[in-house]
Amino acid sequence: MAVEPLPEIEARFSEGQVFPPDPAFAAQANAKQELYEEAERDFEGFWARLARERLDWSKPFDTTLEWELPFAKWFVGGELNVAYNCVDRHVKAGLGDKVAYHWIGEPGDTRTITYADLQREVAKAANALKELGVQRGDRVAIYMPMVPELPIAMLACARLGAAHTVVFGGFSAEALAGRIEDAQATLLITADGGWRRGAELRLKPAADEALDRSPSVENVLVVRRLGGDTPMRAGRDHWWHELVDRQSEDCPPVPVDSEEMLYLLYTSGTTARPKGIVHTSAGYLLGTSFTHEMIFDVKPDDVYWCAADIGWVTGHSYIVYGPLANATTGVMYEGAPDTPAWDRWWQIIEDYKVSILYCAPTAIRAFMKQGESWPQKHDLSSMRVLGSVGEPINPEAWLWYQEHIGGGRTPVVDTWWQTETGMILISPLPGVTTTKPGSATFPFPGIEADVVDGEGHSVPLGGGGYLVLKRPWPAMLRGIYGDPERYKETYWSRFPGMYFAGDGAKRDEGGYYWLLGRVDDVMNVSGHRISTIEVESALVDHKSVAEAAVVGKNDPVTGQAIFAFVTLKAGIEGSDELGRELRQHVTTVIGPMCRPKFLMFSPDLPKTRSGKIMRRLLRDIAEGRALGDTTTLADETVVDTIRANTGSAEE
Ligand code: WT7
Repeated sequence: MAVEPLPEIEARFSEGQVFPPDPAFAAQANAKQELYEEAERDFEGFWARLARERLDWSKPFDTTLEWELPFAKWFVGGELNVAYNCVDRHVKAGLGDKVAYHWIGEPGDTRTITYADLQREVAKAANALKELGVQRGDRVAIYMPMVPELPIAMLACARLGAAHTVVFGGFSAEALAGRIEDAQATLLITADGGWRRGAELRLKPAADEALDRSPSVENVLVVRRLGGDTPMRAGRDHWWHELVDRQSEDCPPVPVDSEEMLYLLYTSGTTARPKGIVHTSAGYLLGTSFTHEMIFDVKPDDVYWCAADIGWVTGHSYIVYGPLANATTGVMYEGAPDTPAWDRWWQIIEDYKVSILYCAPTAIRAFMKQGESWPQKHDLSSMRVLGSVGEPINPEAWLWYQEHIGGGRTPVVDTWWQTETGMILISPLPGVTTTKPGSATFPFPGIEADVVDGEGHSVPLGGGGYLVLKRPWPAMLRGIYGDPERYKETYWSRFPGMYFAGDGAKRDEGGYYWLLGRVDDVMNVSGHRISTIEVESALVDHKSVAEAAVVGKNDPVTGQAIFAFVTLKAGIEGSDELGRELRQHVTTVIGPMCRPKFLMFSPDLPKTRSGKIMRRLLRDIAEGRALGDTTTLADETVVDTIRANTGSAEE
């Protein structure tokens, strides 16, 4: 299998601009060059020192790492409570009045939540969970908009030693039901809905639909965000404001084992069935909090804003656990970047004097498209550090971000990681690293990455191949829930002894890493990971569809856009109406972010003689470029037929 980087990604590799750290920034930076050396001398000792210094333990650990490839256990024998480390210890240290979250609702309503507030609310919520029968080791599903009760609910689970599984509010009822079932969750925490683009987005009806298929769920806790009519089922559904508000503010945190499951987060792979990625407690908290402090250079008086949704791993690690463990003041915004206008974010930065912003290249490109007049209307002089995550950032967007949001002064950190890695693994350290726009630069201290060829041999500098990780790290996934074989197969079988990330990468002569995008059947749309096969199976699930093939097409704003080739059953004619119906079907089965932007009815699909769909050729067709090698095609006329077909409808 050869790595086939997208041509536009190849092109950026040759860009020559470099940005050495500003000496004034470097002088005050949290990160120092010596971290690399210390971690290389003894990576276990490095993480052990940090774990002792940074976390509050109920019982100290005896062994730093037990590594039985590919199963890792970190800080074995230790006990702690994650919620205590994120909240209580800060209140104890006198930071009760410090703001944990400045929350901003889309309609303009606001809430300020201090660490003392958070302690009270988390304790009350945890007591409510107890009343509903939640115990240590149980799984709690959470399906919520971006309201403060979402991190409160997560921390309440952590306080009891129960695992949460947050399902992004954009997922459909069906997707929610599948995740609840896999996790065997006994409680669902949801809300009546939230605001999006000036409209009420009702969540409870989707939750109810999912619950019809989720016998494991015994109780539902519902936050009232919108008001109005919400169907509540007696005996099963409980209003948060009734049940939580009457609880005691005293709820002792339950010390748990370092390796106790903190959460499950489902992510797409190369099959139709999402994987429940398992994260545990101590190593995860250490990895997220330490990277957060070093990579974003977070200081006690910073106002930090990660603009992701908590429903994705970025929000888990860098809105909730990492920042709270560091007693950071964060911003949490409920709504869309263009509501009421395209300067909503810049208004928030000005109002709250945000100093650190972390977002996805898709958002940056969407802002670029609207022009710099929007940020120019606002005082963004508080900005100190800018972060990017989720997909490769093109140098043009990197430079625009630095110039128009960072005033040409701020470091930009392009951070590579995954749901599975839990924490950032490849990134510049601001104040230390000389950056190159478009490159995520170097592995974080203690991380051993490599770029290998198809046989697993390290590719010399200047060459490209597959990105792998060669030693365990504290926040790494511990497995796929209930499926150790799939865990081994997915991540550890391609190159024996190495973790295969699924990304292509190149290193330049200076050793800088340049991420080249996925090399498997996974798309990245707006920084969201979407499996081609998941969308295909949703399409094939429709009664009119015989076969479907889905590819990612390059998109100037969203990185990739979903392009679906659909073969209909005999006797059924393609039409715009059917195209709409199929798109709607995908929305219903998975969620709106998986709705194909392009849909082409195609009488046949290009396949190899063994019947495997040649997505590579479909990508060529989708991009409108010359076809690559067609010699393995079983039927060479198929591609001409598809090409002659003008029926690709864009939405
Ligand atoms: C995939 C992981 C990690 C939080 C958001 C996505 C791509 C992520 C970068 C980056 C190039 C990136 C990779 C990776 N990716 N960050 N800075 N440069 N690509 O989490 O849904 O688990 O997706 O996102 O392809 O494998 P995820």
